[in-house]
Amino acid sequence: MDPFRFPGLPSRVVFGHGTLVEVPREMEALGRSRAVVLATLGQRGQAEALATLLGDRAVGVIAEAVMHTPVAVTEAAVVRVRALDADCVIAVGGGSTTGLGKAIALRTDLDQIVVPTTYAGSEMTPILGETLDGAEPGHRAKTTQKSEKIRPEVVVYDVDLTLGLPAGLTATSGLNAIAHAVEALYAQDRNPIVSLMAEEAIRALARALPVIAAVPRDRAARADALYGAWLAGACLGTVGMALHHKLCHVLGGSFDLPHAETHTVVLPHAAAYNAQAAPEAMARVARALGAVDGPQGLYDLAASLGAPISLSAIGMPEAGLDRAAEAAVANPYWNPRALERGAIRRLLNDAFQGRRPDAAV
Ligand SMILES: NC(=O)c1ccc[n+]([C@@H]2O[C@H](COP(=O)([O-])OP(=O)(O)OC[C@H]3O[C@@H](n4cnc5c(N)ncnc54)[C@H](O)[C@@H]3O)[C@@H](O)[C@H]2O)c1
Repeated sequence: MDPFRFPGLPSRVVFGHGTLVEVPREMEALGRSRAVVLATLGQRGQAEALATLLGDRAVGVIAEAVMHTPVAVTEAAVVRVRALDADCVIAVGGGSTTGLGKAIALRTDLDQIVVPTTYAGSEMTPILGETLDGAEPGHRAKTTQKSEKIRPEVVVYDVDLTLGLPAGLTATSGLNAIAHAVEALYAQDRNPIVSLMAEEAIRALARALPVIAAVPRDRAARADALYGAWLAGACLGTVGMALHHKLCHVLGGSFDLPHAETHTVVLPHAAAYNAQAAPEAMARVARALGAVDGPQGLYDLAASLGAPISLSAIGMPEAGLDRAAEAAVANPYWNPRALERGAIRRLLNDAFQGRRPDAAV
């Protein structure tokens, strides 16, 4: 066995059906009494329902979260949070809403409770990606930072809130979660616990997503998927990510591509790029998927769910592929296989076309 370090899992987690009612108790356990509830405009209703449940423990609702955490939205929210004299924020939603809560916490040091309604996994990480507004798509910079101020204190997983997650987002968000687990299996700082969690995350999600595609409100499959998403998010929050996350960061931040769809399309190709350099990880991916080959299994799962399988289908301009390849190798970072600009450009082309990756052997 290789030596390893396991840093622990710092966030408190409550998981189950109907756990939303436990949020007031969790707030009290943190010693907080004035919450601002955050959401996107589309999930304002869920935020208001939680504010009603909290009664006078809720001092406001800000339903302005948007994708990629623009700094201007955060700064306006911070002004309101301060004016309301809030002592914590509660994010109800996907990664975009969690991102707004994290960005507020980074600037104010307020406690955060997150009630996730997608499988993105941001709630389990000390990572925040933000974008500066104003720049043109294709030139916009997304910056990422890591801090314990960013990591939410409490996460309340309520499976019931995910029952209505639309089919398309269920598939792509589930594959976004699987991407965290795949990269955790070949992370430079991987450890046996995280690897167990990663394999179990892939297994749970790969088992649940086809069931949900057939019966969207299947409670057991929804619970399985959210359980997998929690594990995958914990992997993302514990070990370092590599080429796949870097590519998605570049494509999402610079070309304004939708987050979960981008992960869905890129994952089989990034896995194929790394397959020969990380054979044990890829064997575990294949085993968890019940597939012969890991990268092909990831592609086939996405295709079988009706998820997008090409960058061209999700709005990537072909003319941007060179710039994306350049950006992917610009600031070197650890990856199991060396970063080769030409091979990454071919990977991006395969992803652009939606080609099924070749078998790793
Ligand atoms: N920092 C991190 O660790 C980390 C990890 C993963 C994702 N992210 C960030 O999260 C963002 C993407 O998050 P996402 O994929 O969850 O999408 P999202 O939060 O943008 O949600 C997409 C849309 O679906 C809606 N929605 C969410 N849950 C729903 C539900 N149960 N029912 C109906 N509608 C629902 C949202 O309101 C939104 O309109 C990106 O900005 C990404 O960078 C960050």
